[in-house]
Parts: sequence; structure tokens; C-alpha cells
Amino acid sequence: MRGMEKKQVEDILKLASKFEKGGASNTLKGKILATLFFEPSTRTRFSFESAMKRLGGTCVGFSSIEGTSVKKGETLIDTVNIMSGYSDCIVIRHSKEGAAKLASEHSSVPIVNAGDGSHDHPTQTLLDLYTIKKSLKNFNGLRVGICGDLRYGRTGRPLSIALSNYDTEISFISPPQLSMDKSTVKYIRDNGTNVKEVLKIEDVIRELDVLYMTRIQRERFPTEEEYLKFSGHYIVNKELMNLAKKNMILMHPLPRVNEISVEVDSDPRAKYFEQSRNGVPTRMAVLYTAMKK
Ligand code: NCD
Repeated sequence: MRGMEKKQVEDILKLASKFEKGGASNTLKGKILATLFFEPSTRTRFSFESAMKRLGGTCVGFSSIEGTSVKKGETLIDTVNIMSGYSDCIVIRHSKEGAAKLASEHSSVPIVNAGDGSHDHPTQTLLDLYTIKKSLKNFNGLRVGICGDLRYGRTGRPLSIALSNYDTEISFISPPQLSMDKSTVKYIRDNGTNVKEVLKIEDVIRELDVLYMTRIQRERFPTEEEYLKFSGHYIVNKELMNLAKKNMILMHPLPRVNEISVEVDSDPRAKYFEQSRNGVPTRMAVLYTAMKK
């Protein structure tokens, strides 16, 4: 997200809105999307595939390395090089930070980052922004709380970077051991955004316009014991929602484990299911932008 300009982001959001209303359905007819998922995914992979099909294109790819030559020891670079010969665009998710960037240096077709380790998940950020815009109309003036595993998670970082291009205030809510990296905090402060770092949701919830919850990233902890120290650390329930503004929106990239109680799902401020549905028009906009002539 650091390299993405405000204008590029806004163009994608506008296009997503057009696609959501049913615009330009066969524009990628004859094009092939390759989805290379080295890490598990439900929403991201299926919404990309659905987006591609809605634009009239088709998909090839894998959802785990079982059944591919990666199992035989093929490198990421070789896999990408080969797959770029079979497709017009590649969507890649990988456990290593920088994998998508590396892939883009060895591909003859556009690469879309669908998550690289703990680092970035830019299309998630785009659909998050799309969701915020749909609900609250404007980014300027918003107070946004981003809560949970800000260290190993890859959704809070790019979202805060994107929001720092607007007149927003960001509260990072995490235990000190899972806090946002200093380089990102500095980047968004240098971009003119007011940043707070707090330990508890209760410290800021009354003032927030958006509360963005994230999952404690079990798979990225060095040991299960370490993970268990933080599992269940933050839980949004009805009681907590009672403290929030009437028009605050509650978001989560999903999957949730226990960060949001099921009892909150029926609260009109709970936007996470709509947020996941917004993945389709947003990714249609990304794919269209990557593959249009
Ligand atoms: C996120 C991811 O993969 O980083 N999921 C998603 O794409 N919606 C969040 C997560 O796994 O916690």
C-alpha cells in the first residue's frame, strides 16, 4: 500500500462501485487468471475467482502446494515464471514477506498480492476502504481503531497506511508484544496522521467511527504457548458495543476466531459480512485495472 497513490485507490473504489451496480460484465472475456495460493484462503481466493468469472474470464491455479511441482522443490521464481506463460494475470498468496514483489520481478504478466506473510494485503485494504466509504461516505474526519494482532497480522498495516492519506485519526489497540511496527507508525505520523497506541478497546471505543478487529495470527507465532497468551485477549460483545457510537461500524477481515461474539452479528453496525461480499466488486476493479488493454 505504501506505493499506491490516493488517486489510484480512488479510481479502483469508483470502478468497484460501478461493477457492484452491474457495469461491464464481459470485459475480460478470453483472459485467464492464475491463482497461486501457497497459504490457506477462503474469501480472498473465491472472491478473486468469482470476480474474474463475473468479468467473463476464467481461472486456473492451486489452493495448496499439494499436487504441484512446489512439492518437488520447485522455487517460487520458477513457478511464477511458468505460470505467467499460462495466464494474463497472477494472484499470489505466500507466507514469506516480499513474495509478491519477488514474483513481479520474474513474471511477464501483472502480479496481484493476495497476502505476503505478515507484511501486506492490499486488496483487503481496498475492500476495507470500499466498505468504509459505502457506510460512512467519507474518509476525512474519521477516527479509526485497529485492534488485535497488529504485529503478525497483515491487514491492519496497509489499512492504516491507506487511511493516513486522509485526515483521519488512528488508534492502534494491542498488547505491547503485538503492537504495530515502529516503521509503520512513523510512516503514518510523517504523513500527518494522529496516532494513538492503547491497550484496551474501552480506552477509545466511545470516540471511534470504525472499529476494525483482527485475528490473533496463530500460525505466525513461534510457539503455541506464545499464541495462547494472547488468544481471547480482545472480544467484542454486546456490552462493549453499548459503549460505541450509534453509527460506528464494526469491521473484521475474517476469519474470526473469538474476537467478535456471535451475539453482535445482528447489530446493524456489524459490517463484516457485507465487507467480505465487497471483496467481489473490489477485486473485479483490481483485475480489470490489471488486465484491461
Ligand atoms: C486475512 C488474511 O489472510 O490476512 N484474511 C483475509 O484475507 N480475509 C485475515 C486473517 O487471516 O486473519
